[in-house]
Amino acid sequence: MGLVVTFISWCWPAILLMVIMKLWTIYNDSKMDQTSPLPLPRGSYGLPIIGETIAFVTQFLFDETRLQKYGNVFKTHVLGEPTIICMGPENVRKVLSGEHRVVTSSWPSAIKRLFGEGALSQSFGGIHRKRQKLVRKAFTHDALKSYVTPIRDLVRKHVTYWCDGENEVQAKSKLKSMLLEIACKVVLGLEYEKSDYSKIVETYETFSNGFFAPPINIPGSVFYKAMQARKTLHKYAQESMDRKTNDDRIDALQYIQSSIGENGEALSEEEIRESVIELMFSGHETTASACTSVVMLLARHPDVIGKIRDELDRYGMFEEDGYDVDLDDINRLQYVGQVMKEVLRLAPPTGGGFRKVLETFELEGCQIPKGWTIIYNISNTHRLSNHFDNISDFDPDRWHPDSMTKNQSFHYLPFGGGARSCVGKEFAKLLIKILIVEMARSCSWTVKQLYPRMSRLPVLNPVDGLPTSFKRYGKEKQGVCCQDGIALLKEENLRGI
Ligand code: HEM
Repeated sequence: MGLVVTFISWCWPAILLMVIMKLWTIYNDSKMDQTSPLPLPRGSYGLPIIGETIAFVTQFLFDETRLQKYGNVFKTHVLGEPTIICMGPENVRKVLSGEHRVVTSSWPSAIKRLFGEGALSQSFGGIHRKRQKLVRKAFTHDALKSYVTPIRDLVRKHVTYWCDGENEVQAKSKLKSMLLEIACKVVLGLEYEKSDYSKIVETYETFSNGFFAPPINIPGSVFYKAMQARKTLHKYAQESMDRKTNDDRIDALQYIQSSIGENGEALSEEEIRESVIELMFSGHETTASACTSVVMLLARHPDVIGKIRDELDRYGMFEEDGYDVDLDDINRLQYVGQVMKEVLRLAPPTGGGFRKVLETFELEGCQIPKGWTIIYNISNTHRLSNHFDNISDFDPDRWHPDSMTKNQSFHYLPFGGGARSCVGKEFAKLLIKILIVEMARSCSWTVKQLYPRMSRLPVLNPVDGLPTSFKRYGKEKQGVCCQDGIALLKEENLRGI
C-alpha cells in the first residue's frame, strides 16, 4: 500500500499531463466532420493550446521524421488552429484545384493584418479574380520587357561591388539589399541613397518578423513593431503614388495605377497601397532566397558554370564590353533557364500555402474537415514526385526539352498552382536568369560552407547568411571553385541541400 502511495505521489504530474493531453486530443478530434464516414488523418496535436506551433515555426513542420511517421497527409495543431499538412502531387492537385470552391486562401491572422484586406493574397472569390487581373497588368510581356534594362543595370552594379569590395560578404544580405533596390525601382519607381536602402531592409525585416508572432498589438511586442513597420511602408507607397504622373516612369505601380478592367473597374488607393507593399515584399524576399540558392548551388557545381559560360559565348553575350540584352535574348538562353528551374526544384523558397477548408473532402482515404486549415507543402512534393530521378542531385540537364516530356503541373510548384499561383512568377524568373548571366559573365566565387544549415521561415535561407568571396572573373578564365577546391570532390559526396 505504502509503495502504491509513493508511486502515485511521484507520478501524479505525469499522469495529469497524460490526462490533459488525452482531453486535448478528444477536444480537437470532436471538431471533425461528424457526418463524414471517413477518419481523420493520423498525427498529433502537440501540447494543449500551443499545439505544435514551436516545431512549426522552427522547422516548418515538414521534416522527414513526420513524413516517415504519418505519411503524406497528417493532422496537427498550429498557430491556434487544428490543421492538416499535405504533400505529394495528387494531394496538392486536389487542394489547389479546389480554390474558391472547396478551399480558400487563409493566412494566419498576423499575416492577414499586416498585409491588409486589399492585398491579393488576402482576397477571395470574385474580388480576388478582379484584383488578380488588374495586378497581372504589371507583369505582361511588354511590362517585363521594360524592366530588363533597369534590372540588368542594378544587378551589374551590385555584382561589381561584391567583386571589388570586401574579401568576404554575406551573400544573403547582399542579395536581399540588391533585390530590395530592384523592387523599389521597378515596383515603386523610387530611388534612394544607399543608407536609405538599409533602413528599408530593416523595415521589411521588422514587418516580416510579425508574420508568425502572436497578433497582440501592444507596445513592445513583435507584432506591434511589425504594425509600425507597416505604417512606414504605407508611407513609402503613398509617396510614390503621389508623384506627378507626367514623369517617364516605368514601374509596376504605374501599370497598376493605370490598370482598368473590362467593365471599367480599377483598384482603390488603399488596394493599390496594400498590393504594392505585398509585391515589394514578395518581390524581394522570395527572389533573394532563390538567388542565394543560385550562389550556393553553383558554387558546388563549377561544371554547370562552365556550361552557362559556353551558352553565353555561343550567343555573343560573354564579351566584356558592348554587351546588351533584351527580354528575347534572356529567353533564348535555354541552359540558363534549365539552371533556374533546377534551383527552384531543389531549393523552393516558399514552404507552402495556407488554405481554409470550405467543404469536407477526402485525401488518401481520410476526411479533411470543413473549417480546418490545410497547408500544402512544396519541397516535399518535389521530392515525392515520380517525374524526377535522383531527386537530391542538382542536375539542370533534367530540364532539357528532350528529357522532359511529362506535364509537370503539381509535380513542380515553386510558384504554387491553380487560381492562386504566383502573380509575379515571370518577373521572378527574369530576375534569377539575369543574376545567373551577370554572375557567370563577370565573377567567380567561393562559399565558406558548401552545405550550411538551412532555415525555412519565412522563406528558405542558409542560417549563416552564406559567407562568400567574390572576385572578378578575369581573362585567365579560372573556374569557380569552393573553399579548398572542395567542389572538385566526387559528386556522390555532395548530395542534398
Ligand atoms: C522565386 C520567387 C518567388 C517564389 C518562389 C514565389 C512563390 C509563390 C507561391 C508559392 C505563391 C502561392 C502561395 C499560395 O498558394 O497561397 C505565390 C503567390 C504570390 N506571389 Fe510569389 N513567388 C515569387 C516571386 C514573386 C514576385 C517577384 C512577386 C511580385 C513582384 C510575387 C507576388 C506574389 C503574390 C502577390 C502572390 C499572391 C497571389 C494570389 O493570392 O493570387 N511573387 N508566390
